[in-house]
Amino acid sequence: MSHLFEHKGADGKGYSQPEPILSVDSLRLPDSMKRSAAPRWPRLSEPEMVRHYTWLSNRNFGIDTGFYPLGSCTMKHNPRVNEVIAQIPGIADLHPLQPEHQIQGILAIFHEMQEMLAVCSGMNSVTLQPVAGAQGEFTAIRCIQEYFRTRGELGRTKVIVPDSAHGTNPASAAMAGFEIVEIPSREDGRLDLDALRAVVGDDTAAMMITNPSTLGIFEPEVAEAANIVHEAGGQMYYDGANFNAILGRTSPGLMGFDAVHYNLHKTFSQPHGGGGPGSGPIGVRSHLAEFLPGPVVKRRPVMPQDRLTNANNEWWYQWHFPKNSIGKVQQWHGNAGAVIRSWAFYRRFGRELKTMSEHAVLNANYLRHMIHNIAVERGLDHLFCDGAPVDVVKHEFTLSLASLKEKSGVGAMDIAKGLLDRGYMAPTVYFPLIVPECVMIEPTETESKEVLDLFAERFVDILAEDPEVLHQAPTTTPVRRVDEVYAARNLTLAHPFEEE
Ligand SMILES: Cc1ncc(COP(=O)(O)O)c(C=O)c1O
Repeated sequence: MSHLFEHKGADGKGYSQPEPILSVDSLRLPDSMKRSAAPRWPRLSEPEMVRHYTWLSNRNFGIDTGFYPLGSCTMKHNPRVNEVIAQIPGIADLHPLQPEHQIQGILAIFHEMQEMLAVCSGMNSVTLQPVAGAQGEFTAIRCIQEYFRTRGELGRTKVIVPDSAHGTNPASAAMAGFEIVEIPSREDGRLDLDALRAVVGDDTAAMMITNPSTLGIFEPEVAEAANIVHEAGGQMYYDGANFNAILGRTSPGLMGFDAVHYNLHKTFSQPHGGGGPGSGPIGVRSHLAEFLPGPVVKRRPVMPQDRLTNANNEWWYQWHFPKNSIGKVQQWHGNAGAVIRSWAFYRRFGRELKTMSEHAVLNANYLRHMIHNIAVERGLDHLFCDGAPVDVVKHEFTLSLASLKEKSGVGAMDIAKGLLDRGYMAPTVYFPLIVPECVMIEPTETESKEVLDLFAERFVDILAEDPEVLHQAPTTTPVRRVDEVYAARNLTLAHPFEEE
């Protein structure tokens, strides 16, 4: 069985529906909009339904089933207390259209979240609207576009990205209509300022960059890059996916950035939504604030006419639409549940949030060294090398398996699939593109030393595995190797019903 529709279940009687409040006839719908046949819902009893979804969940690999060393877009443990707080009825049962005097509590949470993100990143204003990092990128780039439009600088049509950039950076800028200018990295993987100087000019709208870079290395010359772009009149955009490496230590504001997105799923423990129920707020400096999508939450001191139920409230919170807003990028007020979970995480750690970044960096460096040490002990270290020649990485690291590929034909994809057979989520592979046969690993701060030690052992085991076995991997998963490009380009989203 692969889906509910194949399940004949309780003979078509295993569900109950409340009586409709209105009959279809009373709605006076045009005939063309009325159903001619009843919907073909699957008809299952409650236990059948529970079994089906439990069965499905068991076929899935997730952070709750095992170690998830996926570099860059990783997931870490989502503390369950976040769920408890997100489900408090006074939060979960609110309707987005309720009047402000009934929702002062959640508005206060949103406001605190905006303030916290602004303080941590060194920005002035934040909107919680975008629902994924990539949507945040697009939103911020649109704000930058509007900024130039209102200043009459219409010739700023180009966005600069380093060749180590995450694919969503050029994609977001291109979606907004910008031309992408890619600059090569230096031999050591770092930002090449000469390459930047060579392309920057009065047609530059922005530079998009993440720091630490996708190689997991900190760009020490990022402030100089910001000077170069600013002197040419451009804006600096910070891809905040790697914010979990620097939080509490430094900030995009200190580095000279004008706009930033935050992936709440990485840094603030909200589950990764895969474009769905995620959250990718953005923060901007004052000169871009008027273009943010609304509504954002503002507060002012309580006044006598405010209809407050709690007389002790000091502040009145209200929705606000920035004056030259680019418009909404999401229905209602963004993804409230995701924001609440991240708020709960931040509230739990408060000023200690920087310990999170320290542990994320410690774990990445520890794992990197363990893999090297074990490989040296077993005489296998000639099969791979570091993606970036630095002593200390930040939250993630890359390995190039080019030597392994040359020697035995086993590539990064084979290793990733082999790890699935050993009970691990596959690391990111073939990204960043500048590292040949790249494997990118991000352990996050939520894994223990024991988990990292065992993974390092298994990772080195696999380098010595029979190439034929690895070419066949995975053999233990519900689905073997799939044609990913075909799957992505030929989505089947509707059940193919047989005509009755
Ligand atoms: C460096 C980087 N930028 C952007 C994104 C896009 O974020 P999202 O997957 O939330 O759209 C990711 C993925 O997490 C990323 O790793």
